[in-house]
Amino acid sequence: MAPSNTRIFSLPTAELHLHIEGTLEPELVFELAENNGVALPFDSVEALRERYQFTSLQSFLDLYYDCMSVLQTRADFRTLGERYLERAYEQGVRHAEIFFDAQAHTIRGVDAEEVLDGLLDALEAGARKGISGGLILSFLRDRPVAEALETLESLAHRAGDLLGVGLDSAEVGYPPELFTPVFARAKELGLRLVAHAGEEGPAAYVREALDLLGAERIDHGIRSLEDPELIERLRRERIPLTVCPLSNVKLAVIPTLAEHPILDLLDKEILVTVNSDDPAYFGGYLADNMAGLVDAFPALDGALERLARNSVEASFASDERKAELHALIDEWASRA
Ligand code: HPA
Ligand code: ZN
Repeated sequence: MAPSNTRIFSLPTAELHLHIEGTLEPELVFELAENNGVALPFDSVEALRERYQFTSLQSFLDLYYDCMSVLQTRADFRTLGERYLERAYEQGVRHAEIFFDAQAHTIRGVDAEEVLDGLLDALEAGARKGISGGLILSFLRDRPVAEALETLESLAHRAGDLLGVGLDSAEVGYPPELFTPVFARAKELGLRLVAHAGEEGPAAYVREALDLLGAERIDHGIRSLEDPELIERLRRERIPLTVCPLSNVKLAVIPTLAEHPILDLLDKEILVTVNSDDPAYFGGYLADNMAGLVDAFPALDGALERLARNSVEASFASDERKAELHALIDEWASRA
């Protein structure tokens, strides 16, 4: 690791855009397939890794949902969560707000509470090691709205174990507006609200997510840059964008890291954060994303502290935990 990378990897951050199923590394796919007697359409870890070449969000989602078939028990989800938290910790993450795609499991016959309990087990283990966090139930926007509502109702008695709800999967053709009743019910249950918008979809989807769903944070949101009035609103209202640079390049949302709009967003004083999305598939965890950006934009090195503080501000951590996280960043800055 180069010296500057040591600094990047020790920067204390909050990860706010992370799909736990997207942390399923090929080795774990094979390990769980063997444990659970699941037949895989790939012969080896290497053969699976060779499939990690995507041309769009959908081309990734096809493989992402296929690989999930190996996740079946509470223990599997605990293992998945623990391995992510260990890797994230090594990359400076000290708070993680984690998406899970309950419907991707319930439609295969896995009980949503097994998923939830396994992930809560992992978070408990993580908390003992110094990572705080919570779970965000993310609805699959390319499946029926009624199914999302049923999923939410099935976990309503566990609302206290959830941080919030989100909206993910294939974006174009599935505008946020469709999910207005689902988000209204989530709000009634006291849950925090976030939504993917403006990844492949237009800036208008970001507006809908804010105005119709009541989203407090926008996941991706980079296409907001096509709408100057929207950008001004994001700045004024300090609405966070959880940006995922390696994901954007891997899914061909942006041609290369050097063309990523992170500097433009910082210049425009948007509350932008850096996150890893689906790190097992996109070539890196949070600090790998930061390191890639600094490589592409050396000027960003001077903005690392700001990005870390943005991640804390944009998080749903308690005020007390936020103060602890800022103190960790103070310590890092005094060493840097
Ligand atoms: N976008 C939308 N849905 C997703 C993603 C993403 O990047 N990753 C996992 N589900
Ligand atoms: Zn995502």
